[in-house]
Amino acid sequence: MEFAGSHVLSVGQFERPDVEAVFAVADRMEPYARRRRVTRVLEGAILGSMFFEPSTRTRVSFGSAFNLLGGEVRETTGFENSAIAKGESLYDTARVLSGYSDVIAMRHPAEGSVAEFASASRVPVINGGDGSNEHPTQALLDLYTIRSELAAQQRGIDGLRIAMVGDLRFGRTVHSLCRLLGLFSDVRVTLVSPVELRMPGEIVDALRSAGHRVVESDALEEGIADVDILYSTRLQEERFASPEEAALYRGRFRLNQQVYTRHCDPNTVIMHPLPRDSREAARELDEDLNDNPKLAIFRQTDNGVLVRMALFALILDVADQVDAHSRDVHWYTGGRNP
Ligand code: CP
Repeated sequence: MEFAGSHVLSVGQFERPDVEAVFAVADRMEPYARRRRVTRVLEGAILGSMFFEPSTRTRVSFGSAFNLLGGEVRETTGFENSAIAKGESLYDTARVLSGYSDVIAMRHPAEGSVAEFASASRVPVINGGDGSNEHPTQALLDLYTIRSELAAQQRGIDGLRIAMVGDLRFGRTVHSLCRLLGLFSDVRVTLVSPVELRMPGEIVDALRSAGHRVVESDALEEGIADVDILYSTRLQEERFASPEEAALYRGRFRLNQQVYTRHCDPNTVIMHPLPRDSREAARELDEDLNDNPKLAIFRQTDNGVLVRMALFALILDVADQVDAHSRDVHWYTGGRNP
């Protein structure tokens, strides 16, 4: 894949060497994300950040990643603050905003909308989530986290055993992650969901075509035994026709410390793309796991900055210049560094 000037719309664009290239650059971003060094390699560049659906980590980590490379960020959040609310088309919005930006990160509730926007944009566009379709940068940061957690056990991604639990029908992060796993070998994927919220058939078929073992189940306890990674997901209530329909599934699969201790191997790493739903009726990932050292959810969010920095550096073709534009930091950073 030629990164310079490319859109990032789907994980389907990536071959395994491309993923490895992103990870190699992400590794090199650590001193900057940890505030040991400052780089100004993107000084003068502008990220257009356009989020038409709620977001905390994707929106802010895209912005932080760009700032950490020395660039500036201009944001639009919500339709109500955009001329789209006055009937402006995605085409016109893309033509206008790409005149103000060097790269654009976008989230939109409609499947395919980010690709439609990108086709009219004059600058690279990165998909920050389009409906229940894809969330490619989340999948990259998830896989980067899996690689990092398994490296601590002297393991690689090939041979991975992963359970994905929850709303696999509407959860775009698991759609993108499954597609990326197709690039690796000998993966066993256990998909735990209510029957009505199963992973789309074409994604399951693609995993099997890649030679992976796929087990579909609606039994949490069986599904989470004997896995390396337990990837929990939130019920995507905003994608259901009504709150009443979503309520049929709310709280169906709850992972807490007791369930973990009883059914999981002690090395099992717990992941979740976040946000987790911590309201009493849901709690798919209980806060009583917060002190469990295998809970990797905040390592995931930190890794999101590294991976997004790497994508910006590759797309804007400065990956080899980051260090040449850097210096030590001169403020207190002790609270963040491990
Ligand atoms: N994981 C994720 O996409 O989180 P946000 O919705 O907060 O961006």
